[in-house]
Amino acid sequence: MNKEEKIKSLSLEISEKLEKVQDLKMLNDLKIEYLSKKGPVSELSSLMKDLDNEERKKFGMLLNSFKNEINDKFDEIRTKLETEELNKKLEEEKIDISLPATPIKIGSPNILERLIEEIESFLMNMGYDVVDGPEIEKDLYNFELLNLPKGHPARDAQDTFYLKGEELLLRSQTSPVQVRTMLSKEKPEPIKMICPGKTYRRDDDDAVHSHQFTQIEGLVIDKDISLSDLKGTFDIIAKHLFGEDVQTRFRPSYYPFTEPSVEMDISCFNCHGQGCNLCKPKGWITVGGAGMVHPDVLKNCGYDPNEWQGFAFGFGAERIAMLKYNIKDIRIFYTNDLREMEVFDRKEGE
Ligand code: DAH
Repeated sequence: MNKEEKIKSLSLEISEKLEKVQDLKMLNDLKIEYLSKKGPVSELSSLMKDLDNEERKKFGMLLNSFKNEINDKFDEIRTKLETEELNKKLEEEKIDISLPATPIKIGSPNILERLIEEIESFLMNMGYDVVDGPEIEKDLYNFELLNLPKGHPARDAQDTFYLKGEELLLRSQTSPVQVRTMLSKEKPEPIKMICPGKTYRRDDDDAVHSHQFTQIEGLVIDKDISLSDLKGTFDIIAKHLFGEDVQTRFRPSYYPFTEPSVEMDISCFNCHGQGCNLCKPKGWITVGGAGMVHPDVLKNCGYDPNEWQGFAFGFGAERIAMLKYNIKDIRIFYTNDLREMEVFDRKEGE
């Protein structure tokens, strides 16, 4: 076989083997077999050394074009196989986007926060400002200016956490914010505000008591305010929270900072006054305290009681939420258990 025939037969041999190649590994093996330094293609180059210049040039060109041709074939097949392999992989790893996704649990606002925001926005629409006050409070604002001087027996009802002697305390009610708001005015002017906030009492924690709870305080001061304004306001709030058919009533009560003072009751929305477990079985449920701001409190805060009157009210936010959502344990509000929150989400959606 002369050298041209050798090239031809090698070309044929490689072409036949390339046709049988099925994957990249086979292709690589073939490349090593034929195109490595000691392979048959390189061996052909060794024939050059016995040739004269003219022939070496001719054979060199022939050999080069043969090598190029072989390399091109290898490249072509490599590209084809790589594309095939990629397509196969893509096919195997195909994601079915129509499958339902794994649900991601999304948190939701605490039910108490939600209720407070709801009451805030309702009262803001009625022209109330939402006011904040400090939780560490002066005895002066929490008690004294509210007509509860030191030694007043009504202080005992609010088992107070005192800080630093007797002058600072954790506020036992949101009522000091009334005092702060009135005192903040340069000169007396009408006030319409609510203050939702945390309060603290030295209560033992159980299903219905917590050493920390939330009150929603309201205060309206103007020149022509009477108890019937308070009743109307309470009525609107109660109907908004518990339904249009809820009735409201006042019962006489005592708070040092209001005169007269009342307890605010709503008719039982569960049994509609028939008597049930919820209203135990009175047909009525107490939801807060209220009254006309005591003349001494007005005076203490720079308002002349002969000119100005006002009413104030205080709700327990947890109590309202427990009634509204039939919650039996106050601690649920503070543990933020997502499973409990989900139940409320569903109730809200009803
Ligand atoms: N601060 C009272 C309490 O904690 C609730 C209350 C009663 C607030 C009458 C008021 C009010 O503003 O007028 O028991």
